[in-house]
Amino acid sequence: MKVAVDILKPHIQSSLYTLRALKEVNDYVFQFGLLNRVSSFFDQPLRNPELAKRYQKDLLNEVWKTIKWDRDNIIKGIYPASVIKHRSLWQKTQGMVKILMDYPQVISRRKKNQTLIQKESSDQFPDYFTRAFHFQSDGYLSKKSAELYEQQVDILFTGLSDIMRRSFFPFLARSLPRDRHLNILEMACGTGRGTEMLREVFPNASFTLNDLSPHYLEYAKDKFKDLNGFKYINGEADKLNSLEDKSFDVTFHIYLFHEIPQETRIAVLEEQIRLTKDDGFIIICDSLQTRDRPEWKEVLEDFPKRYHEPFYRNFLEDDFKPMASELGLTLVHEQKVLLTKCLIFKK
Ligand SMILES: C[S@@+](CC[C@H](N)C(=O)[O-])C[C@H]1O[C@@H](n2cnc3c(N)ncnc32)[C@H](O)[C@@H]1O
Repeated sequence: MKVAVDILKPHIQSSLYTLRALKEVNDYVFQFGLLNRVSSFFDQPLRNPELAKRYQKDLLNEVWKTIKWDRDNIIKGIYPASVIKHRSLWQKTQGMVKILMDYPQVISRRKKNQTLIQKESSDQFPDYFTRAFHFQSDGYLSKKSAELYEQQVDILFTGLSDIMRRSFFPFLARSLPRDRHLNILEMACGTGRGTEMLREVFPNASFTLNDLSPHYLEYAKDKFKDLNGFKYINGEADKLNSLEDKSFDVTFHIYLFHEIPQETRIAVLEEQIRLTKDDGFIIICDSLQTRDRPEWKEVLEDFPKRYHEPFYRNFLEDDFKPMASELGLTLVHEQKVLLTKCLIFKK
């Protein structure tokens, strides 16, 4: 009997994982469809219907590969199943209601191509930041924006954004002992989704979270309020002067580079080099770039046509490998997961 259970267990786990993942995708496909209908009614479709049709088979194939990749990592114990942080149906419904209530403003901004935000405190931020990224209300500068953010990203990536964020987890899980005390820095953490999942892999680690938006950082802080060993720094990722040289085993950021100008990307990487220990890891995790999948060029280029992403076009062509090499870094790992790629460097 025990032998039979042992044989069947991975198959049952695997089927349960797949069912949950497919349900998650289905929930967000529904939400995307709803928003797209509303947007299309106002002549602002969220995707190019012709492109969506042409690339549908290819993308569905990749979605399936993505789910299998994550499932295998969990079944093989590379990272624990607790990294999965699905919202309940009730949370999704509440979130969707809030998103729909805010949506007339988003559509109006998109129609007028209104890309800047007016904030009384905007002087304290660099110009590139005080924008209505994605045409979202208040850009990154309000509590409301922080509250809507995670679900909006999940809608955009049909429930697969967390799996993409986990692209560098298998490498770290294999390379670093989980019982060792580690110091990990997440720059531009947003609402803290990356750390929320990574702490399941490294429960003994101390995490420092940084973001330029005080509201997003506050949201993350609230999430981790019952946990010890967390520090928070509000400010620019390339100016973390209060942190000591070589004090982190890992420094990473997720979806930062496509939202900042090229010179700021270099400055952030330099700051990562300053802050990371000699045997530590420096991680860039962001969107795929054109050279990663030239056949998806049109799909990637369609994104900034519909969402305000002023630096994305430049990002698509930027090349971080020579940039890192000039700064003395060696690429030790690269992983692509659906529309995301992580690059992991050592000094
Ligand atoms: C696309 S969001 C990604 C957030 C989060 N990493 C995630 O996985 O969802 C970009 C984040 O970068 C932050 N940000 C932009 N420029 C920054 C800078 N110079 N320094 C620190 N954070 C910055 C924004 O406030 C926002 O939270």
